Amino acid sequence: PSGSLWGGRFAGGPSPALQALSKSTQFDWILAPYDIAGSKAHATALHAAGYLTADELERMHHALDALAADVADGSFQAIEADEDVHGALERGLIQVAGPELGGKLRAGRSRNDQIATLVRLYLLDQAGAIAHGVIQLIDAIAAQADAHHGAVMPGRTHLQHAQPVLLSHHLLAHAWPLVRDLERLGEWSKRAKVSPYGAGALAGSSLGLDPSLVARELGLSGALENSIDATAARDVVAEFAFITSLIGVNLSRFAEEIILWNTREFGFVTLDDGYSTGSSIMPQKKNPDIAELARGKSGRLIGNLSGLLATLKGLPLAYNRDLQEDKEPVFDSADTLTVLLPAFTGMVATLTFHTDRMAELAPQGFSLATDVAEWLVKQGVVFREAHEISGALVRFCEERGLDLADPSDEELAQVSPHLTPAVREVLTVEGSVSSRIGTGGTAPVRVAEQHQALTKRVAEL
Ligand code: ARG
Repeated sequence: PSGSLWGGRFAGGPSPALQALSKSTQFDWILAPYDIAGSKAHATALHAAGYLTADELERMHHALDALAADVADGSFQAIEADEDVHGALERGLIQVAGPELGGKLRAGRSRNDQIATLVRLYLLDQAGAIAHGVIQLIDAIAAQADAHHGAVMPGRTHLQHAQPVLLSHHLLAHAWPLVRDLERLGEWSKRAKVSPYGAGALAGSSLGLDPSLVARELGLSGALENSIDATAARDVVAEFAFITSLIGVNLSRFAEEIILWNTREFGFVTLDDGYSTGSSIMPQKKNPDIAELARGKSGRLIGNLSGLLATLKGLPLAYNRDLQEDKEPVFDSADTLTVLLPAFTGMVATLTFHTDRMAELAPQGFSLATDVAEWLVKQGVVFREAHEISGALVRFCEERGLDLADPSDEELAQVSPHLTPAVREVLTVEGSVSSRIGTGGTAPVRVAEQHQALTKRVAEL
């Protein structure tokens, strides 16, 4: 049928049911500018190999630029009969350049190597925007850490009070995984920057076209080594889905804490009005919807990754039409982070921390018991025994409703003769925090160093 990419062998056109199933323009149209960039590069390769004269190349590039402008302003759009973005744009090219010139462009390429390349180009751009959003979030976290020098909070394990820590230390602990996610995106982009173009359907081209020329024209680092791999592999797409889902998971863990901190029971933070929502029935409500949406959307991002991996797992080499299913999940993952990151960053940047409340809770739950044990070790007591003594002090206090610092000197000595009054030096939150001067510890001096190291790592990206 006229307009289709494969008239010759077929007596009739595709059934409407097949057309409806097969169609991908509703989601791959977004690749149109990349498809046209690929076509321009391919035309250059055809010219270099002697299949287009200099004049034809110029007219071809001109026609493709005109088509790109028509796509950009919406005057050229996909129609019902177009199967995918590649077919639609060939139809458009022929409208602009005529069948004689327009019909030459398809030589030596296939939609299989085209689509594998376009997805990479699109995801590379999306990765750049996502990385920018992640950097802004890291900056917002670091600014909150900066604004709360010296503030303490209960550090938790198993969600139970464990040891006091600096608020800034805890906040920066949410920044580091994001720094590693940025590094992951950077490493991924090296792999993504290799071009499948020129692989043809699967076996490579017989026309003497230069795939590395196309790669260069597209700003990619080179051509893939194996044409079958080039058309069949989607590991680069799956890795993008993984990194974006990991970013989602990292946001979700932070979100969960913000949700808890924002409860009346914790009372650690207040959300800015611009970054929280109300209730349609309960006038008093102020809800942490951004954090909840972050937590919820991480499930969606994980779903995109697992759906894509399931699509890939049974596929023989090389191209199979199943691979058309690779796009919607990762397009959605990119879109999801693109809307989520600015809102999340705004929420973090505008959080008010109630440091008095945090400081009040920091020593509760006998969170200084480890400090007592480690103080005893410094006095020469074996740790096993030190742990026993500190545990006995906890029990002594718990039975009497006291905090660890409350017992008198006599009572301390009654628990153990090793517990001299000097132990009181570690029975304050500030003393405890300042004593944790090991590398990566919560002592203010170490946290200041850590902050510098983080800034440096981000600057080096
Ligand atoms: N639209 C397809 C995709 O997204 C590319 C076309 C390849 N189709 C084909 N029948 N070889 O993967």
